[in-house]
Amino acid sequence: MKSAFAIITIWFSMAALPSTTMAAPGWLAFGDIRGFFEPCGCDPRTDLGGVQRIQAHIGRERLLNPDVLVFNLGNAFSIDQSVLAKQKNSFVQAGLGVIAPDVSLLNQAELMAGPEFLTGMNYVLSNYDDHKGDKATRFSAYKSMIEVRGHLVFGFVESFKGSVGLNAFNVAEWRKIKANEPRFAKLRSVLLFSGSRKTLAQIVDAKIFDVVISGNEFALGQDFSDGERTTPNNLIRLRKGDLEVLKTPLGGQGVLRSPELQLVATAKPLSVMFAARNSAEKNNDNCSKVGLLEKTVSMACASSSSSGIKVIGDFSRNFVYWLTKEEEEGVSKELLGVVGKFREASSSRMNSLIAQREIDLKDSKFVGNDACAGCHSSAVDVWKNSKHSHAFQTLKDKQRTSDPDCVSCHVVGFSEKGGFVSEEKSPQLANVQCESCHGPRKDHVTNPSLKTGKTAAKDACATCHTPPHSPGFDNKKYWEMIKHK
Ligand code: HEC
Ligand code: HEC
Ligand code: HEC
Ligand code: HEC
Repeated sequence: MKSAFAIITIWFSMAALPSTTMAAPGWLAFGDIRGFFEPCGCDPRTDLGGVQRIQAHIGRERLLNPDVLVFNLGNAFSIDQSVLAKQKNSFVQAGLGVIAPDVSLLNQAELMAGPEFLTGMNYVLSNYDDHKGDKATRFSAYKSMIEVRGHLVFGFVESFKGSVGLNAFNVAEWRKIKANEPRFAKLRSVLLFSGSRKTLAQIVDAKIFDVVISGNEFALGQDFSDGERTTPNNLIRLRKGDLEVLKTPLGGQGVLRSPELQLVATAKPLSVMFAARNSAEKNNDNCSKVGLLEKTVSMACASSSSSGIKVIGDFSRNFVYWLTKEEEEGVSKELLGVVGKFREASSSRMNSLIAQREIDLKDSKFVGNDACAGCHSSAVDVWKNSKHSHAFQTLKDKQRTSDPDCVSCHVVGFSEKGGFVSEEKSPQLANVQCESCHGPRKDHVTNPSLKTGKTAAKDACATCHTPPHSPGFDNKKYWEMIKHK
């Protein structure tokens, strides 16, 4: 059995290594934010990541380690073309500006978002065919190679129009660039990669790069769950000889750390968290605590079935830092300004929705639960004891009732005509109620034999219980908790 002591011993012996072995400054990498500005907090397992937490973490790491290189693997933006998504993207852009990565990969979502979102960053892309046609002027905001603090950084993105695949991508040319200037030979070469595993393997086999970091392979637009956090070793995308390629967690939920950084960090106040963090949160005796810049962070837990703690991931490695709620402390003032503006924009969007939707309330087919109580008292009693009955209070506690992105799932009929408008205008439709699942019931109240024709109530769950909002959703288990007739 592994014990906490064994882990701590390893940690101290690493700390004792001579500093001369730490020539490279180390790197942090994040990516695949995909428009995910901040987590919703609907479930602690997916309460991770987002722009402000990335900033807080990287800001703190830079304090400890000013030379640390920061790479953004791109796909920071949502590819959704809605007004809302575009508005969010502008805040992601502002947030990235504050995070100020040394190099960012010009990935698919960046190209789709368009040039207006790409200003102010050091973008790299080494296989985009901008020599022909008019693309060069459209996306002039990137370089094919960036030199930064002893590193030559390249970028490779597969699978978008205009990108040049591996056949044409020129291994020889990259070698030539490296050979171009004598001093380049002394620099570490880094590839920021986004594409298939097959191509990644070919690139690794070509042995051009000292470090290869990959973006997440999941398709753009894919929802994320807690899968990567529960099995962090899945973040090792490829391992060949000495080279191990890590990939960024989906949704910017965590920050990758280079091995040398772990050594540097262990020699200083510890800023590494083991992947088993969520076990550690259980605050068991087997967990030891180590101070981290005024904060106390649970570090590691031993495997112990009797205490109910399960070891997750590989204790010998700590290559990913999961961006839990604590990361909201220490966000820079500048970024807090961006967050404040983001809140204002959400709330002004809510106000315009209220104005548009208010008109439909007059002829609304929704009535609210009070109208059901007389005839369905047992169902109403079950509901009162369920979490659905205080779903809106949850948003009030979090001061998020003026964010349409939150309200949508915490009330009745927000996406339908005559559904919830605001607490003031339609208090009877706050919270998740009978009609969230059974559809509008006004006519049924006066004529109980009338059915709605709405899709079966049991299929309604999936509209709200989606990842990342409800990663533990299980139809049977959840129905058991609210069953009624
Ligand atoms: C005046 C009494 C009365 C009121 C008020 C009433 N119901 Fe009913 N409800 C009934 C009766 C009676 C049935 C059984 C009708 C049938 O099976 O033909 C029924 C059936 C149902 C059913 C199952 C059949 C179906 O239509 O899907 C649901 C769901 C339901 N009611 C929801 C509600 C909700 C929600 C409200 C409040 C908005 C409500 N009812 C208000 C009397 C009422
Ligand atoms: C309109 C959106 C919506 C629909 C539809 C919906 N839920 Fe929920 N559900 C929520 C929200 C929001 C919460 C959390 C409420 C809170 O605690 O603030 C929740 C919480 C729950 C919980 C409590 C979970 C816990 O951790 O204790 C259960 C159980 C549940 N829902 C079951 C269901 C089932 C089963 C269905 C389908 C038959 C369903 N829900 C449909 C929004 C919805
Ligand atoms: C897609 C639907 C959806 C959206 C959008 C959504 N939620 Fe939720 N929320 C849920 C569901 C479903 C649950 C219950 C999860 C569970 O227990 O499995 C929940 C639970 C929660 C909880 C936990 C409540 C408890 O009882 O512990 C909080 C807090 C919360 N949501 C806040 C928010 C905020 C803030 C936003 C906006 C940023 C938001 N939600 C947006 C569906 C949603
Ligand atoms: C979270 C979703 C959800 C909420 C909220 C909810 N129900 Fe249901 N209800 C269901 C599901 C699912 C069933 C089972 C229907 C089925 O088997 O298809 C059901 C069954 C029923 C039935 C029995 C239907 C039948 O055909 O026998 C009645 C009556 C009913 N609900 C009334 C209500 C009333 C009244 C409320 C509010 C107090 C309410 N429900 C709240 C999802 C919900």
